[in-house]
Amino acid sequence: MCGIVGYAGPRRAAPILLDGLKRLEYRGYDSAGIAIGQPDGLASVRRVGKIQVLKDAVPKDMAGAWGIGHTRWATHGGVTEANTHPHCDASGKIAVVHNGIIENYRALREMLVKEGVAFKSETDTEVIPNLVAKYYNGDLEAAVKAALAHLEGTYGIAVIHADEPGRIVGARNGSPLCVGVGDGEMLLGSDVMAFISSTSRVVYLNDGEVVALTPSGFKITDRSDRSVDREADAVTWELGAIEKDGYPCFMEKEIFEQPDSIGRALGGRLDQENATAKLGGLNLDRRYQRAVSRVNVIAAGTSWHASLVGTQLLESVARIPAQAELASEVRYRNPVVESGSLWFAVSQSGETADTLYAMREIQRKGANVLGICNVVGSTIARESDGGVYVHSGPEIAVASTKAFTSQLAAFYLFTLHMARMRDMSRAEGERFLAALAGVPDKVRLALAARDRIQAIAKKYSRCRDFLFLGRGLLYPIALEGALKLKEISYIHAEGYAAGEIKHGPIALVCPEVPSVFLVADDPLREKVISNIKEVKARGGPVIAVGVEGDAELEAIVDDFIPVPKMDCRFYPFTMVVPLQLFAYFCALELGRDVDQPRNLAKSVTVE
Ligand code: AGP
Repeated sequence: MCGIVGYAGPRRAAPILLDGLKRLEYRGYDSAGIAIGQPDGLASVRRVGKIQVLKDAVPKDMAGAWGIGHTRWATHGGVTEANTHPHCDASGKIAVVHNGIIENYRALREMLVKEGVAFKSETDTEVIPNLVAKYYNGDLEAAVKAALAHLEGTYGIAVIHADEPGRIVGARNGSPLCVGVGDGEMLLGSDVMAFISSTSRVVYLNDGEVVALTPSGFKITDRSDRSVDREADAVTWELGAIEKDGYPCFMEKEIFEQPDSIGRALGGRLDQENATAKLGGLNLDRRYQRAVSRVNVIAAGTSWHASLVGTQLLESVARIPAQAELASEVRYRNPVVESGSLWFAVSQSGETADTLYAMREIQRKGANVLGICNVVGSTIARESDGGVYVHSGPEIAVASTKAFTSQLAAFYLFTLHMARMRDMSRAEGERFLAALAGVPDKVRLALAARDRIQAIAKKYSRCRDFLFLGRGLLYPIALEGALKLKEISYIHAEGYAAGEIKHGPIALVCPEVPSVFLVADDPLREKVISNIKEVKARGGPVIAVGVEGDAELEAIVDDFIPVPKMDCRFYPFTMVVPLQLFAYFCALELGRDVDQPRNLAKSVTVE
């Protein structure tokens, strides 16, 4: 969603802010702007559309060594230049960028209008610079703190004042914000991407904290105005990891990175000696783990699909009752939190508002919540009681691919760990471990079907509706395949348990609606073949993702995509790959913006 960048230092701020905004593009946005402090006041440029449009509008030699920038994903008010951040107070001396939603902005706006303020936008944000102006008495930090006392809702903000050169005040409540610590310069960002080309030292803010920064340092204060001492962390992501590396877009690069990213998720965690998995970050003693009687998982979107696989696996392999739920539902349904239940919050970004708030609610009820996150230092990672980093490396494309397979890896590791503490024998542990260690190579082989998948995508990309069907562990993969296609190609797709189609969806089957079936060589194979025949009998085209060498299957479908043979519990890793590629090539055929699909944001930090 929206992104924030700030810079104070000796260099020209404009190119640094524009570079930061470019790197924040992946979050999803529809307009962008910057405000820069100059000797005669603040200069601001805002534009609707891509960062390139803003870049073209910013004078090449724009002076000023401190400023703030923003990418806006519209919530309050349409996508217009007037609603684009930064927003200034009536005098034009104070500029603010804001992520989040000010829930009581209407009341604040009415109050300020009565005091004579004329508003120029429809946004909730514009009340902030005007409140700061109301309290400004020569000290920006004090005025921001006084203004914050009136705000209800969520915010990450950055504020500058024309009369306080080199100073930026930031504040966080529910929307992430962090400081980039440079040499003789300081930066601010909604995430580390905002400043990764300038520094790899980061200090994360917590909710309720305010930071005042100048080129030479920064000072953090908490809700009670006590000063907070916090060391900088090192950003482990390399700049190279956030470049396209010769690929036309990030999504293709990230799909092809999966053998490596899964390898990183497994790295150092396969305990051959004990035929189990080592997960150092769980922070739970063995007796507690042994006594876990239920696992509940909360997540959203693709992370929820990974959790559906994970919980099925936990039940069938470790024999622990397990359930995955949508975080947005859990939060409001007052869930029963039993003693003995262990919870997980699964999130690539670690910032998804639904997942974060559900996690806090569960913690409030006294349960341990572990995180499965990709982004190191993200809010869910920091607030969870322990967990597993999946180490996918930065995922830039809005549609999640490599983070999904790394989340699967985390669940497979956890399942092995729990199963070996219970009834799984050493011999079975060894088999499971060997199959898990072999996953990166199998995924590499699955990727070899690239050209065949591209040709199939070309053939079907003009269809307007698709069904994705699978059973057992492949049912969540069908959901994921449908989500990928919807997200980036805007083709309507439904994921279903294959056995369920006769209960309704089969009414959709006709020559214009292809069905994509996932068929493993497992005990459910014959049942899925019957489902395929039901579809074929009604004139529906069928694309099957199946096991290499399955001639019987290949003979009855219109198009066949092979994946290599493996232990059938591990097909979720390989069978998702053709679906990712299929969605990708359909989107390319249709000329879509693959990395930044319309209306979507990478990390959904509002409800
Ligand atoms: C995935 O392709 C989607 N963009 C989306 O469903 C995403 O998985 C969801 O918003 C959850 O994000 P998270 O993993 O960062 O919490």
